[in-house]
Amino acid sequence: DDTVDVDISTLHPGQQIVVTWRGWPVFVQRRTSDMLASLQAPGVTQRLRDPESKIMQQPRDATNWHRSITPEIGVLVGICTHLGCVPNFNAPNAADHAGNYACPCHGSQFDVAGRAYKEAPAPYNLPVPPVTMLSETKLKIG
Ligand code: FES
Repeated sequence: DDTVDVDISTLHPGQQIVVTWRGWPVFVQRRTSDMLASLQAPGVTQRLRDPESKIMQQPRDATNWHRSITPEIGVLVGICTHLGCVPNFNAPNAADHAGNYACPCHGSQFDVAGRAYKEAPAPYNLPVPPVTMLSETKLKIG
């Protein structure tokens, strides 16, 4: 059994926790309304390589604008699609209400749904693993 159960009862809006699944870091975020609004902000799609995630790096039930089962909970494999470093989460703050991910190795940037910006060397969005919501406070990855 290579699934991982994650308790999200203490995960506050705007925060993420990192769990390990199949040896990979996986980011589990609780999104704020600002984070969600940023995914659909006017003009954002022009800045992204694959705004609709047409390359299908997510399970079928996460094929939507928020790339997750429920908009408020995001789950991403935390491996940069350039050369495999672990991107840093910049939590939403007063200067940037949406937050983002920045790869420390060659500067790739991703939005909070893991979508790569065009100027990033990363060729693809961050993958979304299979997720099952077991309850309001617990999910299963894998
Ligand atoms: Fe992330 Fe190169 S490994 S930008």
